[in-house]
Amino acid sequence: MSSSVEKIKERLSITDVVSAYVKLEKAGASYKAKCPFHNEKSASFFISPDRGTYYCFGCGAKGDIFTFVEEFEGLEFKQALVNLAEKAGVELVPEARGEQDAKAKLYNAVEAATQYFEKEIQGNKPILEYLQKRGLTAETIAKWRIGWAKNEWRSLHDHLKNQKISDNDMLATGLIKQNDSGSAAGAEARFYDVFRGRIMFPIFDSSGRPVAFSGRIFIDDEKSPKYLNSPATALFNKSEVLYGFDRAKTAIRKLNYSILVEGQMDLILSHQAGLENTVASSGTALTEFHLRRLQKISPRVMFAFDSDSAGFNATKRSAELALQIGMEVKVAVLPPGEDPASLVAKNPNHWKTALKDGKHIIAFYLDKVMHQNTDRRFLLNEIKTGVFPFILELPSKIDQDTFVKMIVDKTGLKEQAVRDDLRTLQIAQAKGIKPVAASQQQAQPSNAAIPISRQQGIERRIIGVILWQESKKDRSEMASAIRKRFVEIAGEESAKKLEEAIETEKEKLIFEAEQYYEHSLKFEEDIQEIFINLQEELLKYELGKKMAELQKAERSQDVEGATKLLAECQGITKKMADLRKQEK
Ligand code: UTP
Ligand code: MN
Repeated sequence: MSSSVEKIKERLSITDVVSAYVKLEKAGASYKAKCPFHNEKSASFFISPDRGTYYCFGCGAKGDIFTFVEEFEGLEFKQALVNLAEKAGVELVPEARGEQDAKAKLYNAVEAATQYFEKEIQGNKPILEYLQKRGLTAETIAKWRIGWAKNEWRSLHDHLKNQKISDNDMLATGLIKQNDSGSAAGAEARFYDVFRGRIMFPIFDSSGRPVAFSGRIFIDDEKSPKYLNSPATALFNKSEVLYGFDRAKTAIRKLNYSILVEGQMDLILSHQAGLENTVASSGTALTEFHLRRLQKISPRVMFAFDSDSAGFNATKRSAELALQIGMEVKVAVLPPGEDPASLVAKNPNHWKTALKDGKHIIAFYLDKVMHQNTDRRFLLNEIKTGVFPFILELPSKIDQDTFVKMIVDKTGLKEQAVRDDLRTLQIAQAKGIKPVAASQQQAQPSNAAIPISRQQGIERRIIGVILWQESKKDRSEMASAIRKRFVEIAGEESAKKLEEAIETEKEKLIFEAEQYYEHSLKFEEDIQEIFINLQEELLKYELGKKMAELQKAERSQDVEGATKLLAECQGITKKMADLRKQEK
């Protein structure tokens, strides 16, 4: 695998790959563009042909050709690899061939089943009438490849058998099952179709290949589930596949938000109504993986809140999970008894209006609490239990603050009281009453605004310069000279620690250094200057410490100590003055 990765990288430059998607503009040694991963007016997305990497100063997107294709196309690494290998004309390593062939057979089986179900729905009046009654157009039925599985025990099995698809492949894709009575009933009787008498919705992977099915019962018999879904298979990972994602990803990126609905009917009708950024969890619980996949292309998501169903709680949990991983979560509240599918069937504008009126989930909870509590004496208490927990789930302190202000604005409660109570709850949570999810901890460094001291700023700048110089072929001498100087000043151990601490920001710092210094006519002087600045900061820090000790010594009338410390302070001040002299 890794050798193919190298080969592909040798043959395809990052500019080849990225320029197929966005317009590039030369900017010194790099190129820049409007970032394809977030909406922006001016270009803050930089590409380095030398390093084969990109970095966006606006949204922090970073990586190489593989991550670019993964994120832009919404593909998994393996699929991005196949995609780029094809572009580069690189054949993927043969040892994976056997496995690939086996998978190809499974894809083939599901595709053949899809075609069979599609054929069976043609001219099938009752089914087509039913779908029409639900509001689906003929075009929609064809587009989503909706089909019909006859109410017979072995029609699919026999059809696929004629197509030379093996029983094993049918079993492995969850299309057929084996009879409990086993072979005793005779070879032919051993297998039966899983989907019988159902309207079939193929589930597509992110490249649009059918990998599984969800089948809706046509004549309700009260015993069978309304929807029957394929089991997890080698092609169908339930915690990863999102229904409609293959068709929605472009619109999600363009509109910069996704709409999450529950069922296939909801999804299909939402797309039919023109909201092509809709995806569905369809039959499985929404996982963090699903959400992160959406988050990669847009951090904003709209959930459809079915205000009075049992599904409400499931949706609520999913929405909170999205909040925790740092997504901006809005909710569209549906009228009682309606779902997106029924709204669109009545009038597509009803669904559009519900979306337009979507509120931030915290505003939604706040409005709910305010609605239910006209007695202001209990309001703050209700907010504490009904709204604060969600505010504390926000990984960004700035966002938390925004919502504190919103509560104050909407309720007229005293700001200090709201803040104090929020803080009390936060402390209670920190003491272990409610554990913080790992994902939340991860999201913290990128979102929380931790002010950086001048000293840290300088150190980061220097590390950026070192890494940038090291990435260039002809600059290794310069790079090691700068590194040596840095280690001398900062000390070996702390230099190492500093470099480890910026590990996740490497790309950003390199691009920053490049933008800052690549056109410099006096690079060495500039570097000299930052080192002096760093030494100055370190001395200032040292001086501050000594001054504090000096004050303490004076207060405790330790004359001897004070004299010694005073001399030390003077020594530091002199060193600081010398630094600048040396410069001239
Ligand atoms: P609903 O029961 O709300 O059905 O289940 P629906 O989507 O409104 O179905 P229609 O409109 O009557 O056709 C919501 C979703 O939960 C999953 C399906 O994905 C369904 O779309 N589900 C439901 C199942 O997986 N199994 C079931 O038995 C029922
Ligand atoms: Mn429905």
